[in-house]
Amino acid sequence: MLIIKKIPRLTYLLLLLVVFGFLAILYQSQIAKIQEKIHAIEKHQEHIDASLREKPLLKVEDLILIYNRVPKTGSTSFVGVAYDLCKKNKFHVLHVNISANSHTITLDNQLKFVQNVTNWNSMKPALYHGHFAFIDFSKFGAPKPLFINLIRRPLDRFISYYYFLRYGDNFRPYLVRKKHGNTMTFDECVMQQVPECDPNNMWLQIPFFCGHAANCRKPGNKWALNEAKKNLITNYFLVGVTEELEDFVQILEQSLPGIFEGATDHFRRSNKSHLRRTVQKDAPKNATLEKIRSSQVWQMENEFYEFALEQFHFVKKIFSKNKGQVVMYEKIRPKPA
Ligand SMILES: *[C@@H]1O[C@H](CO)[C@@H](O)[C@H](O)[C@H]1NC(C)=O
Ligand SMILES: *[C@@H]1O[C@H](CO)[C@@H](O)[C@H](O)[C@H]1NC(C)=O
Ligand SMILES: *[C@@H]1O[C@H](CO)[C@@H](O)[C@H](O)[C@H]1NC(C)=O
Ligand SMILES: *[C@@H]1O[C@H](CO)[C@@H](O)[C@H](O)[C@H]1NC(C)=O
Repeated sequence: MLIIKKIPRLTYLLLLLVVFGFLAILYQSQIAKIQEKIHAIEKHQEHIDASLREKPLLKVEDLILIYNRVPKTGSTSFVGVAYDLCKKNKFHVLHVNISANSHTITLDNQLKFVQNVTNWNSMKPALYHGHFAFIDFSKFGAPKPLFINLIRRPLDRFISYYYFLRYGDNFRPYLVRKKHGNTMTFDECVMQQVPECDPNNMWLQIPFFCGHAANCRKPGNKWALNEAKKNLITNYFLVGVTEELEDFVQILEQSLPGIFEGATDHFRRSNKSHLRRTVQKDAPKNATLEKIRSSQVWQMENEFYEFALEQFHFVKKIFSKNKGQVVMYEKIRPKPA
């Protein structure tokens, strides 16, 4: 009886020891594994920090580009390139649809838009495009995004739009346009002083760059012209011209390769430059041209176009004159110990 009782107790103790020993070893190895993981995470973080420090220009991964496109300036071709590239180059393209087809946005919607665009990290880097007048992000306490845009010779744009409403374009030829069936030529329209061809309707590119001030809406307003010029220089990263769309794409690729890598090649190969041609266009008569050119609105819009063109050519010239330019730092004092 006694012997029989003693043996299980000893076995029990031994078993307990073995179990404890086993648990201790298991515990040790788990701790070692966790330490390894922590170490790996720290290494990874160091790697991320280092790669962030190595970014040569802007932090591409946080980039917000806003293209407040002017209608009938070739914007569809350019946006098409962005849509084709976005998956490969890992950025998002978003169309900003403004109901009521107005180019101005209410104050509350401006604020919402600015906050949304600024905080929507899962979309970054992103290109937002839509038909709306310039918005000053700093007015809402947000960092400025990179605005880009394209403008076109004002009369060409006006005539193109005129015929577009009547005959559509080769982009969506099946779509019946607003003025379909109206065969009046642009010359007739101007000469008969049809409201549609009132030169005041050419007041468009200036307000797009001028922004949301009341004066921006007034055709022929001098302050609006100056404000548009000022914004173009200080608040736009790059403004190209429709007539030199390929150069615009190329400069974007050179200056923002993280987003636009391969854009120039793609633009050339995919015939995007011919994408959206208004179907029928008669060259205007000299009398028509004279009449338009005598209007103050045309003169101001044209001055703005020439201003943008000169600036764009200047940017282009600097690029071609300074191939492979490097900006570096030296004479850093005090010297590291
Ligand atoms: C914008 O949204 C409205 C309403 O949902 C829609 O009818 C319209 O087609 C949209 N515009 C574009 C250009 O997609
Ligand atoms: C931005 O707006 C979209 C659509 O309304 C919404 O899904 C998204 O969560 C918003 N993001 C932020 C950061 O507000
Ligand atoms: C582009 O145009 C050329 C000549 O006009 C044509 O040969 C080529 O197939 C076109 N490429 C595409 C992708 O449409
Ligand atoms: C129209 O103007 C251009 C250049 O100013 C001139 O060369 C041309 O002869 C003119 N055409 C007519 C029909 O007057």
